[in-house]
Amino acid sequence: MPRKLLSAIILSRAKRAPLQQQLVASLKEAVRKGQVLPGEAFPSSRALAQDLKISRNTVLIAYDQLLGEGYLESRPRSGLFVSTALTKQALAGKYSSPGAQPVGLALTKQSRLVGPPRFRPCQPDVGLFPLAAWNRSRNRVLKAQGMSLLHYQPNHTLGVPVLRRALAEYLRDSRGVRCHWEQIAITNGSQQALYLLSRLLLAPGISAYLEDPGYLGARLAFRYVGAKIAPVPVDRDGIVPPTTLAPRSVIYVTPSRQFPTGASLPVARRLALIELLKPSHSWLIEDDYDSEFRYTSAPLPSLQGLDSTGRVIYTGTMSKVLFPSLRIGYVVLPESLVEKFSQARGVVDEQGSLIDQAALADFISNGTFHRHIRRCRKVYAARQKTFLEAATDLRLPLEFPYPGGGMSLMGLWTRSIATDAKLRQRIAESELGVTLLSRYSLNATRRGLVFGYTALDHNAIRTALRQFAALCA
Ligand SMILES: Cc1ncc(COP(=O)(O)O)c(C=O)c1O
Repeated sequence: MPRKLLSAIILSRAKRAPLQQQLVASLKEAVRKGQVLPGEAFPSSRALAQDLKISRNTVLIAYDQLLGEGYLESRPRSGLFVSTALTKQALAGKYSSPGAQPVGLALTKQSRLVGPPRFRPCQPDVGLFPLAAWNRSRNRVLKAQGMSLLHYQPNHTLGVPVLRRALAEYLRDSRGVRCHWEQIAITNGSQQALYLLSRLLLAPGISAYLEDPGYLGARLAFRYVGAKIAPVPVDRDGIVPPTTLAPRSVIYVTPSRQFPTGASLPVARRLALIELLKPSHSWLIEDDYDSEFRYTSAPLPSLQGLDSTGRVIYTGTMSKVLFPSLRIGYVVLPESLVEKFSQARGVVDEQGSLIDQAALADFISNGTFHRHIRRCRKVYAARQKTFLEAATDLRLPLEFPYPGGGMSLMGLWTRSIATDAKLRQRIAESELGVTLLSRYSLNATRRGLVFGYTALDHNAIRTALRQFAALCA
């Protein structure tokens, strides 16, 4: 074992930080300072544990974390090595002169940009995305439509018609959405749709009803325009419909799979919500962000499909089924809102990225889109199974009441651990990306956590859950 490495490790049982955290910090520091160089072998966990007189488990957990963060790489049958992605020049350059930017900062930034999102909720595995097929779609549409896709196209503020048509068909067949293609607007992600709808429908003092706990993106958009935020409780079946709505208000719901709990809203409650709209001249926004991913049974058709008031607005996104940086979302507008929405959309940006929109239309019509969704559904279902099995094996003090679908799982604490403020802080600050349920809550008091798992493969899920279990120990 490199002597320099051993001498770089400073552990103290007197410190409050757990040993594995101290070990991780020392090892990272040794890598950053070049005390072990890219490509150099790391000692086996057994050898390091013996040298340091600590348990091998502590070393294994620390190694798992360094692997996950990209400091180490594993080579089959050879062991662990300092990642060769951390080039000697990069490390030397960063440390050669006093005052240079520490490489740790560069590494953190780099991993934030390109690294796996770990347990962050609702992240697709972009590695599954068929990039070659996507590029073929792009090339095909550029060849067919040539220069026109490169120009300003003021008539396409709501998106290229070929995509709006393809989406109308897709949403009708898969989600029971009832609309004419001209009611569909393409936005830069569904967040832009929420922002524009807030500008159109809300104003200071107007009530915006939100599920509690609920999606932060909606809360942000509604707050931004000064709306009066009205939290609505969520129980085991999803949002509990209020008895009345304030005049001209907006209610935002995720009926297919409530975010972040995972509850599916029963039809009776959907109808009860729709009933509230006409008398109060209110609007309902249905955010159907991940309904493609149901593993045990088909999702209920959309709430929009039940509506006869013309006051339901449906939004969806390609961020989950394809990849988030594509920034393509869509909104199905009641006819009465199409023109106003188009004007508002034109103010923030006259058009979206027409090349991507046209490529997406091709991708949908040639069948790759559907094949990709089917593949992801299968892969994510298996990952959810791995996650739940690993959680059971590790005896995590959490129960997961809504398996069977989605891209994240809410875990509710099963022990008094829920009130351990220090533990909650450790979880919030860890790099695992687990989110406290309270982050999404306004008045709601249920304690729990939200784990995204779809972006991680089976080994990464087990590794990250072991690290999480160590945090709770
Ligand atoms: C409930 C919900 N709605 C919508 C979105 C998607 O947002 P966007 O289309 O802006 O990427 C997310 C993403 O995390 C989400 O969790």
